[in-house]
Amino acid sequence: MIRRMIVFGATGDLTPRYLLPALARLHETGRLPESFEISCLARDDWDTEAFRGFVEARLAEHAADVAALARSGLVKMLEYHRADATDREQVAEALGSSQEPVVAYLALPPVVFAPTIEVLTDTGLPGGSRIVVEKPFGEDLESARELNRLLHEAFPEEAVFRADHFLGLQTVQNVLGLRFANRVFEPLWNHDHVERVEIVWDETLALEGRASYYDTAGALKDMIQNHLLQLLCLVAMEPPITLHERDLRDRKADVLRAVRRLSPEEAERQSVRARYTAGRIGDKEIPAYVEEEGIDPERETETFAQVALAIDNWRWSGVPFVLRTGKALSRDRAEIAVHFKPIPHPAFGQRTEPRSNVLRLRLDPDRIHLVVNINGPGDPFDLERVELGAELAPQDPPAYGRLLLDVLEGDPTLSIRADEAEESWGIVEPILGAWGEGRVPLLEYPAGSDGPKEAAELPAKSVP
Ligand code: BG6
Repeated sequence: MIRRMIVFGATGDLTPRYLLPALARLHETGRLPESFEISCLARDDWDTEAFRGFVEARLAEHAADVAALARSGLVKMLEYHRADATDREQVAEALGSSQEPVVAYLALPPVVFAPTIEVLTDTGLPGGSRIVVEKPFGEDLESARELNRLLHEAFPEEAVFRADHFLGLQTVQNVLGLRFANRVFEPLWNHDHVERVEIVWDETLALEGRASYYDTAGALKDMIQNHLLQLLCLVAMEPPITLHERDLRDRKADVLRAVRRLSPEEAERQSVRARYTAGRIGDKEIPAYVEEEGIDPERETETFAQVALAIDNWRWSGVPFVLRTGKALSRDRAEIAVHFKPIPHPAFGQRTEPRSNVLRLRLDPDRIHLVVNINGPGDPFDLERVELGAELAPQDPPAYGRLLLDVLEGDPTLSIRADEAEESWGIVEPILGAWGEGRVPLLEYPAGSDGPKEAAELPAKSVP
C-alpha cells in the first residue's frame, strides 16, 4: 500500500469537502497505514500550522461523524507546501528526494490539469507512483484525448485513476451482484422484456457557491458525461468473465461504443435542457440561477438535462435509456429504474389490468425493490401492487473512501479507463453540438418544482 499522498489543489472545495473527510474515515477504521503522510500543495500563503487549523475546522463540518481523535490524527499527517502546481521547481521541492512511490491527487480546476501533468512528467515521480484525476476529464473529446496522451507519457494506464465517486457506491456495485449472481433477472434483461430504463439523479441542492466550475460545465457535462453514463454501463453490459479490472472495463467500454451518437434531429427529439428560475425549496428561498454570483447568463448553462439514448446492439435494440439530472428540484431522487413491458394478455379484464413491473435501485438511502402485482385482500380477482424490497446497511467505507483505498492498493477496477472517458465524450458531444446550434430550446423551471414539464413527456416507449 502506498504511504504518501500528494494533493494538488489543497485549499479548493474538493479537498476539505470530500477527500480529507474520506481519509479521516479510513484513518478512524484503521485502514490507512500508520505512517501515512499527506503533502498538500496550494498557492495560498499559508504554512503547515495554518493549513492544519483550516482543515480541522472543515473536518468538524464535513466529517462530524468521525471521532475527534481520528480527525486530529489525520490532521497530524498533513503538511503544507506553498507551491504552484504548474511550477516545476516549486513542485520538485515539495516532492523532496524520497524514492518511495506516491499517489499524486489532482484536485484542481480543469484548466490546470494538463500543465500539472506536464510538470509531473518533467519532474519524474518515483517508480510505482499513481495519479488520480478528478472530473471533469477534459471538456470535449479532443481535450480528453490530449489529457490521456499526456498521462500516458508518464504513467501506465493501470496507474491512472480517473475518479468517479458514483462507482464507489454500494448500490451501484449491487447492479452487478443483482444481475450476475442471480438467475432470475438475466433472462429478462433485454429488449424482449424491458420497455425502458431510467437513470435519475434529481437534487434539491442548488448551485451552492460552485459558479466558477458549474457555469462552464452544466448538467450534461457535470453528471451525464461521467456518472450517469457509468451507471448505464453497469445496467447494460454483457456478463463479464470476472469482475477484475480488464474484464469489467472491457464490457463497459463495449456498451459505450454501442450507444448511438445522436444526429441533430435525434438530439432535438430526445433531449431536454433547462435552468431554474427563482423559487422555494422547503423553507429556503432560492434565487434564479442567472442571479447567482459568478454566473454569466449568456453562457446559457443548463441546470437540468435529460436525454433518451439508444444502445445499438442485439440485447438493447429499441429500448430507450433515459438519463436525467437536475439541480434545485422539489426532492432528492436518485435511482435506476428498470421498467418491464406489460404482460402479453390481460386475463384480469380491463378493470384491473395490471401495471408493469418495475425494478428500482434507489441510491441514498440504499434500497432495492421490485414492484409486482398480486391478488389483494377482498375481491380475489382485484390486483394490488406490492414492493418486494431490501434496505442495504450503511456503506463502509463510504464511496469516496472505497475509491481511495483502491488507489492506495493499486486496483483500478472502479476507475474510468482512458477509452471509456473518450467514448463518453463521443456520446455527449453531438448533443452539446445540437444545443449549441440552438436546436433544443433552453427551458425554465422554478426552483423547488419537478423540472420542466417537457421532460415528463420525453421518455418515449422506444427509440427508433
Ligand atoms: C458531483 C457533481 O460529482 O456529484 C455535483 O459535480 C453533484 O454537481 C454531486 O451534486 C452528487 O453526488 P453526491 O455524492 O455529492 O451527492
